[in-house]
Amino acid sequence: MKYKASSPGIAIDKVVTVQANSNIALVKYWGKRSIGEDCSDESLNLPANSSLSITFGDELSTVTSIVFSEKLNEDEFYLNDKKIDLDEKEIQERFIVLSKLRDIAGTKLRARVVSRNFVPTASGFGSSASGMAALTFAAAKALGLGIETSRLSEIARIGSGSACRSLFGGFVEWERGNKPDGRDSVAKQLYQETYWPELRLIVTALENPKKSISSRAGMRQTAKTSRLYKERIIGAEENIKVLKAALREKDFEKVGEITMQDTMMMHAVMLDTRPPIMYLNDVSRETINTIEELNRKEGRIVAAYTYDAGPNAVILTLDNDFDKVMETLRKINGISKLIVPGIGGGARVLDESQSIIDPNTLLPVSGE
Ligand code: DP6
Repeated sequence: MKYKASSPGIAIDKVVTVQANSNIALVKYWGKRSIGEDCSDESLNLPANSSLSITFGDELSTVTSIVFSEKLNEDEFYLNDKKIDLDEKEIQERFIVLSKLRDIAGTKLRARVVSRNFVPTASGFGSSASGMAALTFAAAKALGLGIETSRLSEIARIGSGSACRSLFGGFVEWERGNKPDGRDSVAKQLYQETYWPELRLIVTALENPKKSISSRAGMRQTAKTSRLYKERIIGAEENIKVLKAALREKDFEKVGEITMQDTMMMHAVMLDTRPPIMYLNDVSRETINTIEELNRKEGRIVAAYTYDAGPNAVILTLDNDFDKVMETLRKINGISKLIVPGIGGGARVLDESQSIIDPNTLLPVSGE
């Protein structure tokens, strides 16, 4: 079946390339609303609590090129030079984003999507945040949709919750919202990436980060089985309030304290899940103990750790303490690399020279 464009704004056979960066939440999202909890449709991917993140620099990002074409009979997706099966359940759930945007544009045109993740090898960082933010942003641009970014974050959220935050740079809040249709569950920028230049991030990349249960599957299991989960939802909303005040004051010690408490609270409900979800390993625990010991010795919070759904830490510190913290982290066995990403901007269109779809043949450009 051949699909035809129906909206005049659509760039047919014209490649659009964007970059979106990953992010690290200081107050985490772990759990979705289900029907009856301010939710009319679970595929809207509505969070149980608000979350707050920092967008990484380009060191942890995804570049996506997209082209809508009448020559395509079905959507195609290539990730890191491999063709991905779009019938796979989790991929299908995420690619609803394309259909939503097509509906808004009033077209059935099929797309070729080519993505490359720039996530350092073994960093263990998932790429769904940057990946889905890049896909949403690229598709919206190619379809000629002049939707404002906060509205677009509603669509990116469907692809991946954390992706709605990656549309923006700097310090970003994803508000839970209360509407069952999710119209108020959107991300917004609190501060630009230049807001706190002294704040530094360090990512610990472990030698052998093992594959574990996906966040999506894990949080469903937590909501079903954890008794601590209800308490966590309340705690996260309280943490957001305190964190926002601490960010306003640039109070590093308070930011650090909330960040560490929040990640441990999330990992506690993971452990309280049946069967238990354990993302942290011995190296993660040693890193936590090392940072706690450093803070105790210094008599103040010089560094704070946070862990997503994996064993790699993101460490927060300030410029003045950066060398000391790096030196301390270098002594930990099992950390293969320390990555120092900046704080970065939101999703943006790249120029044609950075396209990973050949503009003439419309075929993927190999990364080799
Ligand atoms: C632990 O955004 O990957 O990183 O919405 O199902 O795609 P889905 O989940 P995802 O979960 C992220 C969980 C987290 C915490 C966070 O980033 O807030």
